[in-house]
Amino acid sequence: ELMDTIHELEKLFSVDINKMHVIVNRFVSELEKGLSKEGGSIPMNPTWVIGYPTGDECGTYLALDMGGTNLRVCEVELPEEKGQFEIYQSKYRLPDEIKVGDSDQLWDYMAECVKQFLIANHEGQDLSELPEMPLGFTFSYPCTQNAIDHGILQRWTKGFDIDNVEGRDVVPLFEDALQRKGVPVKIVALINDTTGTLIASAYTDDTTRVGCIFGTGCNAAYMEEAGCIPKLEHMKLDPKLPIAINCEWGAFDNEKLVLPRTTYDAHIDKTSPRPGQQLFEKMVAGLYLGEIFRLVLVDLHNNADVHLFQGQDIFGLKLEFSLDASFLSDIENDPWENLMEVQSIFENKLKISTTEPERKLIRRLAELIGTRAARLSACGVAAICKKKGYTSCHVGADGSVFNKYPHFQERQAQALREIFNWGPEIKNDPIQVVPAEDGSGVGAALIAALTLNRIKQGI
Ligand code: BG6
Ligand code: GLC
Repeated sequence: ELMDTIHELEKLFSVDINKMHVIVNRFVSELEKGLSKEGGSIPMNPTWVIGYPTGDECGTYLALDMGGTNLRVCEVELPEEKGQFEIYQSKYRLPDEIKVGDSDQLWDYMAECVKQFLIANHEGQDLSELPEMPLGFTFSYPCTQNAIDHGILQRWTKGFDIDNVEGRDVVPLFEDALQRKGVPVKIVALINDTTGTLIASAYTDDTTRVGCIFGTGCNAAYMEEAGCIPKLEHMKLDPKLPIAINCEWGAFDNEKLVLPRTTYDAHIDKTSPRPGQQLFEKMVAGLYLGEIFRLVLVDLHNNADVHLFQGQDIFGLKLEFSLDASFLSDIENDPWENLMEVQSIFENKLKISTTEPERKLIRRLAELIGTRAARLSACGVAAICKKKGYTSCHVGADGSVFNKYPHFQERQAQALREIFNWGPEIKNDPIQVVPAEDGSGVGAALIAALTLNRIKQGI
């Protein structure tokens, strides 16, 4: 009987090639709309990162990465001649309370991490004696930037909900906290993780055209010419000037027109801190994959026709967001025919015992959710390439889903093959999504260096 349920889930979560074509076409027009004067759902934020690195970037920079899961401080030395960079770094957990706490608490915590990092890396020296260091601040949320060292937070994403930050420039907010703690750094660039990824990857691989994050959130950046950005027309820029655009494509299809949304996706959106926002992201990003899975299982347990885990108390499944993407990864990684690993995960973590047919359903459901995410994310990659007319290039990608989720990369590559319909005579995929260089470390340092070089040259 569970077979019928599995078939229904397959129908619900599959994204076939026709659907992908519809999504890609809509995606291309939405990217364009975001660049237009009227604007659209996808913000398409100009980042004021002008052009790719040349290899002349050098010096020592601090980088702070506030992603969504971790906080990382790095000191990066870029060599005189393009080559190997040195990185010293420390990772700090971003405590959950901070994500929904108050603004001062957030900035103070981050400033304290930078302070501790400097103390540890410059032993014996008084902070006040250190020369002011330039810092590239990777703040991976949608910001309106009128200059590279400013950024007004448009809205929190990835489950963050901190009052009094949306609508404000985050650079002075953070700088004040740094100053209060006597930390001698100057924020020279506010950077999105996708832009950092784009620039870091382009530094080592000049076929890179797009930077993507498939992690807690999902997003992409690419280089656009000023002449193709109607919303910047009033600035009378050289139409050939290359400007990196942070797409913020998580907001794709907020109008709910083309994505194959299920009632589970609707539930996640409705109960999130920002309903109606980031509807694409809520179907593909790591933050949501485990929750989609949990909602389906709870629903199948409550469904009198299916009665999954019949007669058991499923309290272990009842807590919102209690399963993360690594839970799904573990299920997909189970090497056993009879899914013994799945059995023990359910027993140990959730105190639920499973029958073999139930385990088959669990495994299939994880595959379906993971595959849907990979195929939908491929639609975004394809859309940028289509819009720019790129027929062959590398896309640098980072993030926990891309790096750790089983089969994600293969499934995404397969979806791209279907979308572009490359013939069998083509041995290597012309458009490939490849692991990126460290965007928020090296990328942030490169962007800081690019920026300071431009200031020196007076441009
Ligand atoms: C990291 C990058 O490796 O990946 C960060 O350095 C980025 O800049 C992060 O934000 C995204 O992945 P996740 O899974 O932590 O959201
Ligand atoms: C969210 C953020 C975006 C970021 C992405 C990946 O979509 O809004 O800025 O790039 O997550 O971290």
